[in-house]
Amino acid sequence: MQQNTYEFGLIGLGVMGRNFILNVSDNGFKAIGYDLDIEKVNALIEEGGDVSKINATNKADKFVEAIARPRKIMLLVPAGKVVDTVIESLLPFLDKEDIIIDGGNSFFTDTDRRETYLKDKGIHFFGSGVSGGAKGARIGPSIMPGGDKEAYTQVQPIFEAVAAKFKGEPCVAYLGPKSAGNYVKMVHNGIEYGLMQLITEAYDLLKKGGNATNDDLQTVFSNWNNGRLQSFLIEITAGIFSVDDTLSEGKLVDKILDKAKQKGTGKWTSQNAMDLGIPVPTIDMAVSMRELSALKKDRIAADAIYAKPKSELRDKNDLEKKMEAALYFAFIITYAQGLHQLADASEEYKYNLELATIAKIWRAGCIIRAGLLEDISEAFEVNQDLPNLILSPNFKEKISSTLPAVREIVAFAAKQGIPMPGLFSALSYFDAFSSARLPLNLLQAQRDHFGSHTYERIDREGIFHTEWE
Ligand code: 6PG
Repeated sequence: MQQNTYEFGLIGLGVMGRNFILNVSDNGFKAIGYDLDIEKVNALIEEGGDVSKINATNKADKFVEAIARPRKIMLLVPAGKVVDTVIESLLPFLDKEDIIIDGGNSFFTDTDRRETYLKDKGIHFFGSGVSGGAKGARIGPSIMPGGDKEAYTQVQPIFEAVAAKFKGEPCVAYLGPKSAGNYVKMVHNGIEYGLMQLITEAYDLLKKGGNATNDDLQTVFSNWNNGRLQSFLIEITAGIFSVDDTLSEGKLVDKILDKAKQKGTGKWTSQNAMDLGIPVPTIDMAVSMRELSALKKDRIAADAIYAKPKSELRDKNDLEKKMEAALYFAFIITYAQGLHQLADASEEYKYNLELATIAKIWRAGCIIRAGLLEDISEAFEVNQDLPNLILSPNFKEKISSTLPAVREIVAFAAKQGIPMPGLFSALSYFDAFSSARLPLNLLQAQRDHFGSHTYERIDREGIFHTEWE
């Protein structure tokens, strides 16, 4: 294997890694992959066809030596300890100024720790979110790099070439210092959890409240995808309803166990939002519903105890129309919550995030890509300091016009006992966010009553305490 030949190295030749490196090679960059698993190494060599353009090895020293300096090495390995282990295994062979990029879903504070650790050794390290699943990695993901800007500049031509394009613009941009890239990807995933939960609620409502069949649902979601709900998640959902089961009669979707798994990025988004003090209840609900879904045994027991309300069917077309508006509203609110969290995190962690840029690089390639992101990027372009989309003049009409339908769907679902916690939370969040006065004055009184925690007044400055009894 020739030394100093390849322009890009990739570690972790699982589906994502293999697809990403093939994408790099397709774009004219010589690349080499590394994995301890010789089968994965051989599979890449075979698929690549020409080892002078794309090669692979299971030897760390050979891998590092084959890359031209300063080396650009990207990790696509599971988040957590594996990342540290891989970094340690590379260190003996690296030279100063080499660049390591972590393309996995690493927790952002881990990225900060690794950047500091490697800086002391003269190695540039930055974290970069990569979204789009296996297919995205192959044909164009959305890429969210942050960290060492100078190091990023060296990788920029490769990333811009491999990224998804929206009207010719690459869906990648330097987002900010330190762990900005991983943080933005984490919130991307939180929004992803929210949108996915909302889609399951629409599915449930149309089935239970409108007697929709899988064929109907396929048509409804396809129609929705041709309108303002156009998005990757709505598109794949339409497709899911048409897939037959190969092991028994009927559609596959009906045979899948209703217990959701998670790898943790949505939960991290919620946890960190709590730390920051920024409400993201629709994302919180999406995490809780995955947890609730896992309690299958208890759910079955409770189902047997409690009678359901008498079901009342609604006109299918009317329900679809109103549900479309409600989903559009809840999508807006979910993006609003996630972006509000990003705005606050940007202050707290000094990321200097530009929300318009983030919305732009989410317009293609990533899992939460949606037509709506074009409007969102415009709203933040008009006002960079917009605290929340709800306050954008561009969104006033979009939100207001959906509200009657949202309220009707929520009321109907509540009456029918159809759980829609994502939609309910989005509506309550909106109603609270747009209330000049909330009943939390009473809560302050309670705190002062039992714990002398004090309160402020609406009519004069100062801190007050009352002997309530
Ligand atoms: C993406 C996805 C990707 C992954 C999720 C799945 O942007 O390409 O978000 O990162 O599919 O992490 O997460 P869960 O396993 O937690 O659903």
